[in-house]
Amino acid sequence: MNVLTMDKEKAQQRIAQLSKELEQHNYNYYVLSAPTISDYDFDMLLEELIKLEQQHPELLSQDSPSQRVGGKITKEFKTVKHKYVMLSLANSYSREEMTDFDERVRKGLELESNTLFGAEIEYVCELKFDGLSISLTYENGKLVQALTRGDGVQGDDVTTNVKTIRSIPIHLKGNYPSLFEIRGEIFLPRTVFDEINKEREDIGEAPLANPRNAASGTMKMQDSAVVAKRKLDCFLYYMMGDNLPFKTHYENLQEAKTWGFKISERVKVCRNLDEIFDYIDYWDKERFKLPFDIDGIVIKVNEYAKQEQLGMTAKSPRWAIAYKFKAEQVSTVLESISYQVGRTGAITPVANLKPVLLAGTTVKRASLHNADIIGKLDVRVGDYVFVEKGGEIIPKIIGVDLSRRAEGLVPVEYINRCPECDAELIRKEGEVAHYCPNENACPPQIKGKMEHFVARKAMNIDSLGGETIEQLFKTGLIKNIADIYDLKAEQLLPLERMAEKSVNNLLEGIELSKQVPFERVLFAIGIRHVGETTAKKIARKIKSIEVLSNSTVEELLQVDEVGEIIAKSIVEYFSNEENRNLIERLKNKGLQFTLSEEQLEGASEKLKGLSIVISGVFTKHSRDELKELIEKNGGKNSGSISGKTSYLLAGENMGPEKLKKASSLGVKIISEDEFINLLS
Ligand code: IVH
Repeated sequence: MNVLTMDKEKAQQRIAQLSKELEQHNYNYYVLSAPTISDYDFDMLLEELIKLEQQHPELLSQDSPSQRVGGKITKEFKTVKHKYVMLSLANSYSREEMTDFDERVRKGLELESNTLFGAEIEYVCELKFDGLSISLTYENGKLVQALTRGDGVQGDDVTTNVKTIRSIPIHLKGNYPSLFEIRGEIFLPRTVFDEINKEREDIGEAPLANPRNAASGTMKMQDSAVVAKRKLDCFLYYMMGDNLPFKTHYENLQEAKTWGFKISERVKVCRNLDEIFDYIDYWDKERFKLPFDIDGIVIKVNEYAKQEQLGMTAKSPRWAIAYKFKAEQVSTVLESISYQVGRTGAITPVANLKPVLLAGTTVKRASLHNADIIGKLDVRVGDYVFVEKGGEIIPKIIGVDLSRRAEGLVPVEYINRCPECDAELIRKEGEVAHYCPNENACPPQIKGKMEHFVARKAMNIDSLGGETIEQLFKTGLIKNIADIYDLKAEQLLPLERMAEKSVNNLLEGIELSKQVPFERVLFAIGIRHVGETTAKKIARKIKSIEVLSNSTVEELLQVDEVGEIIAKSIVEYFSNEENRNLIERLKNKGLQFTLSEEQLEGASEKLKGLSIVISGVFTKHSRDELKELIEKNGGKNSGSISGKTSYLLAGENMGPEKLKKASSLGVKIISEDEFINLLS
């Protein structure tokens, strides 16, 4: 059936059905890790829902699964008072402190201290997730509010961003209390964290320090569409409310699972200190195998009546405690320091260590970060150094055992020439790292550039993998990205591992890449700080490499999302003669360096400087087409009305809120026909 002709009632039914199905699939995938349909089929259902909601904006609900894709902007996060304060936990670091805790609990409950004959206390042991805590309120089974901890008394309202986290249910199933709060930890799985950092490295940006910082940074982003892409996850571990179904923490957690929440499978009831110690010891060792970071164990008294009896101190409950893992530490000998050159030319000093066992793996190397840190630690080759494995994956050196320093060790003299190409290193103002500036002739930089160039999101030459690049580079067949297009079958066939079929594949892939549109070519050439999205914005606005290469910083700043750093980086790139030659060669080979006819058709600057909000349903164009038209003609499509809005492009069934806001701000309202007139 054509969605356009579907009447409202049918649409409403279909939206309800799609919403239900999509939420069930979200749950299967993100909570149970047991999907029952393919990603493609899921996307198709979601697309159908989004389309229907666009056709019938009045049917769009704030808790539709389409909201998980994000798109709403939060300009300022509202501060809201917590209904129940968000306490933190007291920390402990040793068995003695844990024994003291058990003693205090027994005393508080007026129980015998002798665990053999005294009354039993049930404790619940849980992993202590290392992320940011969140408090969710559900009213009649609907997620109505998500608050960060803030100072414990009041936090930020991040509901819009939280709705993009697929493992957090927007609607509950089963038999839930009509009103309750549930708290948990939002975190970034390690693989996602690694992916983000790899992408950042690709465009020459500093990596994020650890998954915890990345998660809390993400929660405070204004654009929920960006949050949605970050794939955050969330475990829930604590509930509050007047009508919770059970009298113990453990039972309620298990029950909450049936309402759709993601509750850890590693929660365990322990009946004495020995069981608690076993749990702690087990996870102290096994934690590195988990797909996310934990920094300890949380131990809670299970029964609510006992929790109440124990009460709390000013800061934390007396019925719970955190046991924090020590970051594992060992000492070993620093045998030498080597220097790695990254694909952007950044130099990383690496410590080569006498192999030592740490946190379950043999460590031979550790990061030394940069020249400043080497100086501050005064580490010398031959020293015994302390190595630690914290939240980061790569171990780091945290200090020197001066009591064991041998005589005659000399301070490290940091290199001043590139270990790979011997160019003199530079250090940019305000940056800690040294750089090799020889970007077009330094081997690891060239290889890094080539890998980026052929990547899927760039030129997509998947027949040219990392190993082949290495091989072709070593044999001298390719020295830069333009050389790729000079490769001939007769040069490749004599090489090792190159049969006729793989050679044909390779050349075919290279040939096909000449069709890749300008915006991706612009991303592929690897101008520092120009990522995928920025490249797209620049391509649309500036339209050709010709114009781009002669643009000034001021002109570039006119492009959406281009700031000072990006603009300067582009100008610097084109001021380099070698880069210009490279582009010239690629152009002669037939790569796309202008927007295609199709993209250029109908493009103008007629809407330059105008910010336009689209609302309602239209007869001549779809909303996507209108958005495209605005951008093609130099305007900006914005999601919400503000003082900066130039026009509200209004269709049928526009939301009354928008209309009210537009008239109160004096924003001009135009129809679809008037909009088309603007362009003609
Ligand atoms: S219970 C009143 N359980 O650790 C008890 N907290 O300093 C509330 N955390 O702010 C906390 N995993 O962000 C609890 N399984 C877990 C936890 C956990 C991580 C965090 C939470 C809290 C902090 C305690």
